Amino acid sequence: ETGYITYDPGYANTGSCKSDVTFVDGEKGILRYRGYPIEDLAEHATFIETAYLLIFGDLPTRGQRQKFRDLLSEQELLHEGLRHHFEGFPSTGHPMAILSAVINALGCYHPDLLEIDSKADFLRAAAKIISKVRTIAAWSYRKAQGLPFMYPDPKLSYCRNFLHMMHSIPHRHYEPTDAQVRALTLFFLLHADHEQNCSCSTVRMVQSTEANLFASVSAGICALWGRLHGGANAGVIEMLEHIHEGGTSIPDYLEKVKNKECKLMGFGHRIYKSFDPRAKILRKAAHDMLESTGHDDPLLDIALEMADAAMSDEYFIERRLYPNVDFYSGIILRALNIPVNMFTVMFAIGRMPGWIAHWYEAYADGATKIHRPRQVYTGREPRVYVPLDSRI
Ligand code: SDX
Repeated sequence: ETGYITYDPGYANTGSCKSDVTFVDGEKGILRYRGYPIEDLAEHATFIETAYLLIFGDLPTRGQRQKFRDLLSEQELLHEGLRHHFEGFPSTGHPMAILSAVINALGCYHPDLLEIDSKADFLRAAAKIISKVRTIAAWSYRKAQGLPFMYPDPKLSYCRNFLHMMHSIPHRHYEPTDAQVRALTLFFLLHADHEQNCSCSTVRMVQSTEANLFASVSAGICALWGRLHGGANAGVIEMLEHIHEGGTSIPDYLEKVKNKECKLMGFGHRIYKSFDPRAKILRKAAHDMLESTGHDDPLLDIALEMADAAMSDEYFIERRLYPNVDFYSGIILRALNIPVNMFTVMFAIGRMPGWIAHWYEAYADGATKIHRPRQVYTGREPRVYVPLDSRI
């Protein structure tokens, strides 16, 4: 009698999958990459070792690590044709839009890698993305600042090279402190993968159509951009700055959250219902880094006070809301002089190895069917066409 029906076709291929890459136990706050606890990797590994682990499945030997490093160094330059793309972007262009566009455009300059026919092809495509993503990100920042592009320096490590392209100027090489390089390594490593999150599922969704690696990763970048996902780290800093500038007090802000007027950015998680192990590590790293560089960031003090207040408040406790990976990460990026509108780009750089590892796992599986979610139809029941003159 309502003219509407409900039709539920039941389960279809919604993209849920088996995977060997990453293990997450949200109840116990456990995160492991290929079986290695994130705490051990954070303490002992470099970002490139972690990228190798995620992609190849094991930690590299010294020889394998050097070979991977050499491959990334070979691939760090962008084709000069791609450099001209930056001339077309407005200086106000959002770096996430530039990143997804240029990563996808990489396929135009490497058409032989649009069809991956071997593991060697995959490795070349993967190395191009992991290495060049730094150059693209840094150049989008330099374009916005009206600064000349700094080319990558093959003598530098992965993280030092990125900071060099971001902050060096001609004839004055930027020399980050070891504490800054360590903090950036940790930031990238802790973001390297997180099983079937929204952006990873997007990469696997696009791969399931047999689209190429560049297009799949570009789609992942777009999914990550949203405020509820990778955009949250910028949202946290905007929230903390609002409080710092006297826009509101912590108790008043938390009241607004409880009245559902806004979200507590950097809190809550689809899976972690106890604590996000990455947040614990980043909280200490942010504190240690500021201490070692003699930096004093009032936003960290506000963040610590806010976290303590929220975690002792019934509203957040009963909803099992705790700091997630985004709550403290922005403090580290600020201390590295990364602008807020680049925060999600930084998340994307860290997440590249994870997306690529999942893409290859699905590709190599060969049995992956195209992802085709179904729906519960709640629309109109069948109707007869009404001629135009008869419509009132
Ligand atoms: C990332 O999936 C991944 O792995 C993602 C990620 C990764 O590494 O890829 O970990 C990275 O995206 C981390 C999340 C970053 N986003 C934010 O920090 C934005 C703020 N967080 C929320 O938007 C939210 O917590 C989500 C989106 C992360 C999760 O949303 P859910 O699953 O809907 O949360 P929930 O079911 O646990 O919510 C339960 C209750 C609800 O209230 P009630 O309807 O029961 O009254 O808690 C509320 C929610 O409204 N709630 C929040 C809140 N998060 C949930 N209330 C205020 N502030 C929040 N942040």
